[in-house]
Amino acid sequence: MTAPSPFLVAEDLVAGYGEADVISGVSLSVARASLVAIVGPNGAGKSTLLRALFGLLPPRGGRVLLLEEGGSALDVTRVAVHRRAALGMALVPQLDNIFPNLSVRENLELGLGLRRPSGEQLAEVLELFPMLAARAGTRCGTLSGGQRQMVALARAMVRRPRLLLLDEPSAGLAPSAVEELFDQLAAIKVNGTTMLLVEQNARRALSEADWAYVLDMGRNRFEGPGPSLLADERIAELYLGGLAGAPAG
Ligand SMILES: Nc1ncnc2c1ncn2[C@@H]1O[C@H](COP(=O)(O)OP(=O)(O)OP(=O)(O)O)[C@@H](O)[C@H]1O
Ligand SMILES: [Mg+2]
Repeated sequence: MTAPSPFLVAEDLVAGYGEADVISGVSLSVARASLVAIVGPNGAGKSTLLRALFGLLPPRGGRVLLLEEGGSALDVTRVAVHRRAALGMALVPQLDNIFPNLSVRENLELGLGLRRPSGEQLAEVLELFPMLAARAGTRCGTLSGGQRQMVALARAMVRRPRLLLLDEPSAGLAPSAVEELFDQLAAIKVNGTTMLLVEQNARRALSEADWAYVLDMGRNRFEGPGPSLLADERIAELYLGGLAGAPAG
C-alpha cells in the first residue's frame, strides 16, 4: 500500500481575534478521501482553526495548501472564500448553517448559487439524503435538529465539494440522529470526498477517523489514527472524561 496522498495541508497556522492568538502554530495534513477528526475541549480553538482554513479568518502566520494529485501545491492562505469554494472547499459552520424560513429545496438551491442550473446536482444530493427528498417542500424551521443538520450537510454537498470542513455536525442531536449522521459521513467518504471533522462527540469521531488531532489551547497535543487515540489512556484521561466506555465529555 502506498502512503495516502495529502489533499489539505496546514503549516504553522496562527490565527486569532483582536490582540490574542487563538491558534498558535497548528500543522495538520488531511489525506485524500479520508476522514480526519479534530477533537479538544471547549475554547481550544477548533472553530477558529476551521475558519482560518476556509479563509473566513485571515491567518496571521503559516500556510494553507491544497495539493493536487499530480503533485502541484496551491497556496490558498490568502485566497478569498469564494475562490476556495470554486476550488472545491466547503465549510458547514457550527451555528446558523441553514435558512429556517426557506424550504429544504430552497436551502439546497442557495447552496448551489442562484445562477447555476440546479437540476442534476440537486437530484444527486437528494439521492444521497432520501430523508430530505421526502421533505423537499418543508420549511426548515419545522424540521428536527437532526434533519436540519442533514440540510446543512446537503447544502454543502450540492456543489460537489472535494473537501468538506464540518464544525460539530452532531451537536445537540439525539443518539439515533448522531448515528444517522455518521452513516451519512461514511457514505460521503465512499463517494471520494475528503472530510475534516470537528466534533464534541469525541469518542464517536475518533472511532470513525482515519487520522485525528487533539487540539488544546491553540496547539496540537496528540495525533494518530482515530482508534489509536481512542485507546490511549492519557487521552481518555485528559480529554474523554476517563476510561473507555464512560460517557463522552
Ligand atoms: N469572534 C470572536 N471574537 C473574539 N474571540 C473569539 C471569537 N470567536 C472565538 N473567540 C475566542 O477564541 C477562543 C476559541 O474559540 P473557538 O470557538 O475556536 O473554540 P472551539 O474549540 O471551537 O470551542 P467549542 O468547543 O466551544 O466550539 C475562545 O477563547 C473564544 O472566546
Ligand atoms: Mg467550536
